Amino acid sequence: MGPLRDPVATLELDIRADLERVEATLHEVIRSDQSMVHEAARYLIDAGGKRFRPMLTLLAGYAGDPKDPRLVPCAAAIELTHLATLYHDDVIDETSVRRGVPTVNVRYGNSVAVLTGDFLLARASGLAADLGSYVSRRLSDTIAELCEGQIMETAASGLLDVTAEHYLDVIARKTASLIATSCHLGAWLAGASPQIVDAITTYGVALGMAFQLSDDILDVAGEEQESGKTPGTDLREGVLTLPALETLAGRARDGEQLRSALEAKDADGALQILRSNGSVELAHAAVSDWQERARAALGPLDRGSARAALEQLVDFIGARER
Ligand code: IPE
Ligand code: IPE
Ligand code: MG
Ligand code: MG
Repeated sequence: MGPLRDPVATLELDIRADLERVEATLHEVIRSDQSMVHEAARYLIDAGGKRFRPMLTLLAGYAGDPKDPRLVPCAAAIELTHLATLYHDDVIDETSVRRGVPTVNVRYGNSVAVLTGDFLLARASGLAADLGSYVSRRLSDTIAELCEGQIMETAASGLLDVTAEHYLDVIARKTASLIATSCHLGAWLAGASPQIVDAITTYGVALGMAFQLSDDILDVAGEEQESGKTPGTDLREGVLTLPALETLAGRARDGEQLRSALEAKDADGALQILRSNGSVELAHAAVSDWQERARAALGPLDRGSARAALEQLVDFIGARER
């Protein structure tokens, strides 16, 4: 992944070595004597992915002792949790491409996708259990929050009277929660002071908000080649994200046309409107706002290379949908 370049050369090497250990841990814990389980579990790991959350855990570890041996298994537990949500999400969203390959539901069917997601969650819980009750509790609370966000989104799908506040609450729970926990546990395990753990957690929440807002922009304005996913999925599933909500609220052009397209379940027509009515620019402004909050949250950290790397991850989010 690109953001860890020049200014942090030694850090980059250390992180790369630890990320390789995370990969090894992932492959080790998803083994099963049932070949079907193992095959389906490794399928998306092998397909790629940014490993954004493990990287955050490892980087947050630099707020204390980055050599703490619990950081790598914790980072792996978090990636497995994330992976499980992707297996389930693609069933819910009925999508056919993820990480540039056919989704698990397309390749193996919905039942295997759901059960393999459960298997991955179980393996994540196993890793967390070995790291003690604090980690285990934080991760299980985060999984519960994530499910709440996902269920809130599902319950609101197809509705046109959703507010931007509701949307922000959904993404805070379904995405920012796990990104914040990636940061929180990295700093906590490394023994950072409570004030620094708090600062890094606040950073993670803001980063997570920017991350999902930006992912939702890509679903409107991106291309499959860059995201490895099919654009327009949210609209086809009846899920309204910020560009649509800003338009329906009258803050971007063609609100009435969008409402008609959505009522007629014309996702392609709706997508066309959103791509050119100024709503994507409004969503970009919201991303910038959360990026700024993420940077500001790092205030209490030393001005070292780890902080610079965390700042680069903030920039990386903005860069990917432009
Ligand atoms: C996708 O997450 C799901 C969201 C929360 C937007 P990522 O964009 O981190 O997906 P991978 O792991 O790189 O495939
Ligand atoms: C991601 O949601 C899944 C979770 C965060 C639980 P999305 O449905 O918005 O993500 P993509 O775009 O499919 O990766
Ligand atoms: Mg999805
Ligand atoms: Mg989804």
